[in-house]
Amino acid sequence: VKLSTNSKSPEETERFGQDLVRHLRRGDIVLLRGDLGTGKTTLVKGVARALGVDPRSVTSPTFVLMHYYEGRWPLYHFDLYRLEDPAAVESVEYDEFFYGDGLSLVEWPERLGARLPPNYVKVDLRHTAFGHRKIEAVRVKDSA
Ligand SMILES: Nc1ncnc2c1ncn2[C@@H]1O[C@H](COP(=O)(O)OP(=O)(O)OP(=O)(O)O)[C@@H](O)[C@H]1O
Ligand SMILES: [Mg+2]
Repeated sequence: VKLSTNSKSPEETERFGQDLVRHLRRGDIVLLRGDLGTGKTTLVKGVARALGVDPRSVTSPTFVLMHYYEGRWPLYHFDLYRLEDPAAVESVEYDEFFYGDGLSLVEWPERLGARLPPNYVKVDLRHTAFGHRKIEAVRVKDSA
């Protein structure tokens, strides 16, 4: 995978998520890196739509760590923003999701620290101008 775009609207970011699915496989882990409000959840809506999930059901899992959506593939949508304490990160059991046969999408993967998976698809989102986002996706292998 190597995909990038200059998105000029939330709709374009969602479409990027939709397009990204064509480059993904069941079991992939997608790490979404970007500041608050750069469009991580918006992109997940597009991924969900492409997998047959109503994008309106996709919201940031703020008070739980993960939302599960049942699509063409099982979808595990994590938001680790609130996991500031590394000890708390240690206590979370991701493995059954990360290394299962669903698609995992992770907002704020920085929180994983050393527990980064060895293989993943990295998506970077950056605010470039009002309403504009630079989005880049690349597959990373054996990062450990
Ligand atoms: N080009 C764009 N792409 C995506 N979102 C955009 C764009 N331009 C403006 N926006 C706005 O930015 C916000 C993005 O919100 P979203 O919840 O997707 O961000 P997020 O990265 O998940 O934030 P958080 O870290 O708080 O979870 C929305 O309010 C959306 O309307
Ligand atoms: Mg979000």
